[in-house]
Amino acid sequence: MTAVPLETVPPIAPQAQTVGLRRDTCPHPLIEEVYASRRVPLPGGASAPMNVYIPREQGDYLYSLVRHYRPSRTIEVGLANGLSTVCIAAGLEANGSGTHTAIDPFQECDWGNAGLELVHRAGLSHRLRHIADYSHRALADLERDGYSCTFAFVDGAHLFDYVIADFLCIDRVLDAGGLIVFDDSDWPAVRQAIRYILANRAYEVAHPEVVIESRPPTPTMSARLIRRLGRALPRFGSKLRPDFLRPDEELALHGRCIALRKLDHDHRNSQSRCHEPF
Ligand SMILES: C[S@@+](CC[C@H](N)C(=O)[O-])C[C@H]1O[C@@H](n2cnc3c(N)ncnc32)[C@H](O)[C@@H]1O
Repeated sequence: MTAVPLETVPPIAPQAQTVGLRRDTCPHPLIEEVYASRRVPLPGGASAPMNVYIPREQGDYLYSLVRHYRPSRTIEVGLANGLSTVCIAAGLEANGSGTHTAIDPFQECDWGNAGLELVHRAGLSHRLRHIADYSHRALADLERDGYSCTFAFVDGAHLFDYVIADFLCIDRVLDAGGLIVFDDSDWPAVRQAIRYILANRAYEVAHPEVVIESRPPTPTMSARLIRRLGRALPRFGSKLRPDFLRPDEELALHGRCIALRKLDHDHRNSQSRCHEPF
């Protein structure tokens, strides 16, 4: 079989400024109100307990990234109660331009349209396009339509294969220099997906200085010793798990929200037999 490159699109030079992220607070009064009351409004005037959401600090981080990078098109998987959606759309609004696409097939049946209602009450509906479909289908449709973006937030199905599927589909519409931000990046499945991406694709951790809800690791003496031996003796090291040999903190993977920057399009040979261990 002839080996074909996966991607023939030439890399686009990263245009965004990569240093000096200013940490803003999403100034929207509705965000303040919802986090204080812990209830989200529903269409028709009722409200529901806010039992699924990103922490306020993380919403502020998303808002700061949108303000800093000024993307014209942003995308999100997982709308739910709409907290992340409002923070991203509020950033676009403050920038004065941009459209946010949020994908969630369960917005009506599972969430009673709470997310869409929050965006509506925030006066940001003109910034939002909601696609009520599974992310792997919606993202493939967007690619077929020629869509591209420079900022993505992944907070949909958290299973390893679904996170990788979201990554794969988003990568195909993400400009080089763009960011993909993962929620719950401290969950083992999401963390492993991020490790796979860093080991195998042209991505780097963006803004490692921003750590949301970090739990510092506490390796035992014996773990430290075995790791040191594994590094000194490659044959022994090859028997150890890569995430033990090179722990998350050495890759600047901390906390529950990690942003990755795309450095280049994918130029791997599609017939490669192996991936890099992660
Ligand atoms: C943790 S919640 C998102 C929380 C939201 N970002 C917020 O800040 O309020 C996860 C969401 O992913 C959605 N979801 C689950 N599987 C999905 C899939 N395959 N495609 C798109 N969305 C999915 C769920 O309906 C749910 O709304």
